[in-house]
Parts: sequence; structure tokens; C-alpha cells
Amino acid sequence: MLTKANSEVFPLGASVSSRTLARDPYPWYAELRSREPISWIKELGMWYVTRYEDVRAILMDDGRFTTASEKSLIFDTFGAQMLTSEGAEHDRYRRPVQPYFAAGHIRKNFEAAIETSARTLVRDFGAGEVVEMRSAFAARLPVLTILRVFGMPLEAETHFRKWYDSFEAALANFTGSGEIRHAARANVEQCHQYLAQTLREFASKGEDSLLGALVNAPADVRLSDDEIRRNLLIIFFGGISTVEAVILNSLWALLTHRSTLARVRANPALAAKVIEETLRWRSPVQSATRHVLGTTVYRGIEFAAGDTVNCMLGAANRDEALFSEPDRFDIDRPNAQRHLSFATGTHSCLGFNLAKAEARIALQVLLSEFDGLELTQDSPAPEGYEFHQPRSMYLRSVRG
Ligand code: HEM
Repeated sequence: MLTKANSEVFPLGASVSSRTLARDPYPWYAELRSREPISWIKELGMWYVTRYEDVRAILMDDGRFTTASEKSLIFDTFGAQMLTSEGAEHDRYRRPVQPYFAAGHIRKNFEAAIETSARTLVRDFGAGEVVEMRSAFAARLPVLTILRVFGMPLEAETHFRKWYDSFEAALANFTGSGEIRHAARANVEQCHQYLAQTLREFASKGEDSLLGALVNAPADVRLSDDEIRRNLLIIFFGGISTVEAVILNSLWALLTHRSTLARVRANPALAAKVIEETLRWRSPVQSATRHVLGTTVYRGIEFAAGDTVNCMLGAANRDEALFSEPDRFDIDRPNAQRHLSFATGTHSCLGFNLAKAEARIALQVLLSEFDGLELTQDSPAPEGYEFHQPRSMYLRSVRG
């Protein structure tokens, strides 16, 4: 039986460093998948699981692997909500919001509005001007979209941006800075106050919107006001950097694969395939973290109670056992949609239909508004082993 104490049997795990992973995790994932598919990553003090079947099996196994943990920075920042709850509590939180994220609901209620937001954001880009797409477009569209989904005024964007940035800092606060933690708590409190006011307004608006349904739910299933606010916060938090990343990654994929770009220009419906393959090829969220409930053995390896197991979605999505020539970006890949970028199991992404609609519409709007788009020399490639995206994207645009 192998345990994390047998570090000699995990030589790759002992040599992987967060710096090299951050630069380009994919060569490491390939090595890990073939030589140490379950490996103790010494520097990070956690297990990495990199093969598709293992990632899938662990995410499906909520009897042994949980998202609920005192170590969770998500719990510390937002309190109890669906992402750090299991079983009946998780069900109670997720069931009432689920219908509002179904594909049909998004199509009918939000696609046109997302397109309006996207066109408004690009309206002022000047011809031939170099634009930093992350701050001017990709980071803004998801915030505007969430405001629409919540039925809030778009003018609240600045507040929500500030709150989001503070939450993101708290979730990356691995050194435990008191300042970052306290700032995030103050921002959570401000955001709760804003939501409380909006929820009061929705009390008279019936049940046919997300917030209306939550406040006006029948008494036996209604969440408390505080539970509603905590779950709205995790929905808001889940839908910002993730969508920003898939927009930037898909643009980068097209601009570095010009023949595919030409095909999508000729047939904009192909944008949906671009998004699916980009999610597989450059997964925005590279890992889903689980905590071991009780000491357990999996494929000859003993996980101790409380160990952290990182299911590497980005590595699973390049597993040659499922995807042929996995490092190739290929929108004709017949099984691209089997990627695990939205995870799987009970915590699989609530907002995946919304995310795919936003990214597809973003691409279609950019391609229809600009005859030419070029990356400039200052534009970096996607990077990162937790969140994966270009840190900035400088584009020169040519209008028709
Ligand atoms: C491309 C964009 C997105 C990606 C790659 C993504 C990825 C993920 C992943 C991997 C998980 C599972 C986490 C885990 O199991 O530990 C997740 C859960 C979740 N996501 Fe997303 N997400 C995206 C967009 C969105 C959007 C747009 C929303 C909402 C507006 C959203 C809301 C959530 C929520 C609430 C959960 C927790 C679900 C639960 O615990 O039951 N996500 N997402």
C-alpha cells in the first residue's frame, strides 16, 4: 500500500514545482498521467489525480470525497452554500435555482440581452486601435450577464466588480493574510446588504425569475434570507473569471489557428464547436478539489482522512485514453463534449449553459463586428494550473 509518506515512489510529484506548473502545466500533466497518475505533490501538500477515469470516479464518489472542509477558503469567505455542502443540504440549496440555468430558459430570456451587452462593449473600439480585451470586454461581459440574470441594474457593475476582486483575492489567500481576509468579509457584508434590498423588491414580483422564485417559494421549501444570499453569492462568484477565461482562451485558439478562424467566419454556427473544444483543450478551471472523509484506499494508494485530492480537470481533458492527439486543437473532434471542464457528479457546474451561451455569443459578436483581429506581439499565451487563461490580450482590430 502506498501512502504520502512513501515519497520515493512519487519522484515526479516531489520534483513538480508550482512555478513550472504555472508556466505550462500540460507537459507535466502528460508525465504524471503516464508515470504517476495519482501522485503526492510535495510542494503543494496534496494529491494530484490526472487520468480521465480516475478524475471522473473521484468526483462521482461523494461518499468518500467531499467539498465540505474547514480548510475550504470558499467556506471561510462565503459561509455555507451549495459548493461546500453535501447530501440533503446541497439538494435543498441547488434544487430551487436549477431550472433558471436550463438551456431553454437561458435561450429564451438572456441570449438577446447578452448580445446587446457584447455589442455595447465593442461599440467604442476604434479601427486599427490596440485594445486590451481582458479588461475592455472579457472581464465585463460576465458581470453584466449576472446582473441581468439577477434582475439588477447594469449600473451596479462597478460595485460587483469591486466585490468580486476582493473575493477572488480571499480565495487565493494561501498565506492567510488577515488584511485580505478582513477586506473580503467586509465586501461580503456589503454585497449581502445590496442583495437584501433587491430581494425585498422581488417579494412583489411573482415567481417567474430566479430571485422572485427564491423569495416567493412555498414556506416548506423556502430557504432563509441568509441562505438565499449566500447561494446567490456563490452563483455570482462562479460565473465571472471562468467565463472571462473561456472567452479569452477561445479567441486565442482561433487567432493562433487561422484556418479554423476562416471557417468560423464563413459559418458562425461553428462558434459552439469552438467553445466546446476550447473548454477541453484549455480548461479555464484546471482542478476540482476534494477532501478525504475517512482513510480510504483507491487503486492501491491510501488517502488519509483530511487529505486534499485535486482532480486535475485540465489533465483529464488531455488524456489520450479518450481523446486522440489530445494536444491538438480540433473543432471537428467527435467527442470534445465529453470534457470535464464543468466537473461531474453532484457539484457539476450549475451555470454551464449560461457560460457556453456567453462565450459563443461573445465570439460571434467579435467576428461580426471586426473584419480582422490580430494578436499583437505583447499578447501572452494562456497560463496557470488553477485558473488557465492569458493574463492579458492585446488585439488590433479592423472594422468592416
Ligand atoms: C466556462 C465557465 C465555467 C467553468 C469552466 C466552470 C467550472 C465549474 C466547475 C469545475 C465546477 C465544479 C467545482 C467542484 O466540483 O469543485 C463548477 C461549479 C459551479 N459553478 Fe461553474 N463554471 C463556469 C461558469 C459558471 C457560471 C456562468 C455560473 C453561474 C452563473 C457558475 C456557477 C457555478 C456554481 C454555483 C457551482 C457550484 C455547483 C454545486 O456545488 O452544486 N459557473 N463550475
